Amino acid sequence: MTNLLVLRSSILGAASASNQLIDETIISLSAKDPNLQITERDLASNPVPHFDSDAASGLQQEPSTAEQRAARALSDTLIEEVQAADILLVGAPMYNFGIPSTLKSWFDYILRAGVTFRYSEAGPEGLLTGKTAIVVLSRGGYYSEGPAAVMDAQAPHLRALFGFVGITDQKFVLAEKLAFGPEEREASLGSAKNKIRKEFEALLGEPA
Ligand SMILES: Cc1cc2nc3c(=O)[nH]c(=O)nc-3n(C[C@H](O)[C@H](O)[C@H](O)COP(=O)(O)O)c2cc1C
Repeated sequence: MTNLLVLRSSILGAASASNQLIDETIISLSAKDPNLQITERDLASNPVPHFDSDAASGLQQEPSTAEQRAARALSDTLIEEVQAADILLVGAPMYNFGIPSTLKSWFDYILRAGVTFRYSEAGPEGLLTGKTAIVVLSRGGYYSEGPAAVMDAQAPHLRALFGFVGITDQKFVLAEKLAFGPEEREASLGSAKNKIRKEFEALLGEPA
């Protein structure tokens, strides 16, 4: 049995490119493992709170107020969901060159010293090992090469965040040029769907 944690963060709901590609990935993974256990969070429609001083105190020391205890409890729940997952499937649209603030807030609650990473003499060490992250990136523009490449604060940020907590097996699906007109959009979504069908069914081995 495989545990899949799905995180969506698009504000566009069913019209969202990243949500469509997440759905496609779930279909591919389910075809290989009909017993796939799916836990899903839509961070756009049900956001985790913005990280504030109560959250920082509640996560970094023994909580002493109701607000700090609530922040600690939320962090515990979100981390338990990641710990239980074999595969994380994360939708990350590009908003203003980076990831949605709702997705960033989720990371703020799961990057926790002593729990999901620790500092050692060798430097930081991620503790959420043995997992795969499938990251679906959607963008209106084109950043893979050329002058806009330096403005991509989406893919490198996600690589760093997942890598920092030890999730180093990262598979990226990219749909870009989505705002370049209907033909470019269809071509981009089509090629992302092909990649999903080819690569992610293999993740779970032979068909059930
Ligand atoms: C608030 C906002 C900011 C955006 N900023 C960018 C941007 O900086 N670069 C870009 O290429 N596209 C940008 N876009 C376009 C989205 O990346 C594009 O619509 C993509 O399809 C969003 O993913 P989704 O369809 O899963 O919601 C932005 C869209 C919104 C709504």
